[in-house]
Amino acid sequence: MLSAGLLSCILLAASAVARPSGLAGRIARRRAGSHLSQPLQRSELISDQSNVEYSSNWAGAVYAEGDGTYTAVTGTFVVPTPSAPSGGSGTYSAAAWVGIDGDTCDNAILQTGVDFTVDGGEVSYDAWYEWYPDYAYDFSGISISAGDTIKTTVTATSTTSGTAVIENVSTGQTVTQSLTSSYALCEENAEWIVEDYEENGGLVSFADFGTVTFTDAVATTSSGTQGPSGATLIDIEQNGNVLTSASVSSSEVVVKYT
Ligand SMILES: *[C@@H]1O[C@H](CO)[C@@H](O)[C@H](O)[C@H]1NC(C)=O
Repeated sequence: MLSAGLLSCILLAASAVARPSGLAGRIARRRAGSHLSQPLQRSELISDQSNVEYSSNWAGAVYAEGDGTYTAVTGTFVVPTPSAPSGGSGTYSAAAWVGIDGDTCDNAILQTGVDFTVDGGEVSYDAWYEWYPDYAYDFSGISISAGDTIKTTVTATSTTSGTAVIENVSTGQTVTQSLTSSYALCEENAEWIVEDYEENGGLVSFADFGTVTFTDAVATTSSGTQGPSGATLIDIEQNGNVLTSASVSSSEVVVKYT
């Protein structure tokens, strides 16, 4: 299987042949050190629980259905206060987001969410949207604090266009971004995720994010809506250590740092 990095190199190389100015423009827009979410990287570790799979970068719940199934995903969560894992010092981050694709369809992901970073005693947040394989871009006009309740929603208006919305649930205030991409969605996956994302070509050191609970978790399909209870659970496993514990109910996805 191609690694996501290799795959995106091939895709970028292909687009460079077809549209050199497009690629140049895309690279110019990228910011050094910016967040890049990656498709689900499954790990080989055999699960001792039949309903859980392991990954190096995603924890949460993922649906995988046929092409053209999912058109929107939403979830609401309380922004956690990240901390350094025990014994750690330095900078640690994690991101919570909702998205379409990135598992069985790994050539594109439409997603929106929040990064949490702790650097020494200092905690900071970024709200962003991303259409993988492009990088994440920060929303302007929203400033996130610990304890805020935010509702995140992505909607695919076609396989190559969509919107990302973050709402401050206390005030009803929203920020909205329309996106388009030449990397078409398959609309096969719907997910609620806490991610160890990439920055500068490597995974960020994963923060202890406590618990992220996505409430009112809903995926919209062509025939109605779906809660997360039938989704596959994914936990992050790195260097033989399982770092998260994900669970679902009819309307919630709970991801705990363990
Ligand atoms: C949401 O609104 C509350 C009340 O005005 C404010 O304190 C908080 O910072 C806002 N959070 C976001 C993410 O906009």
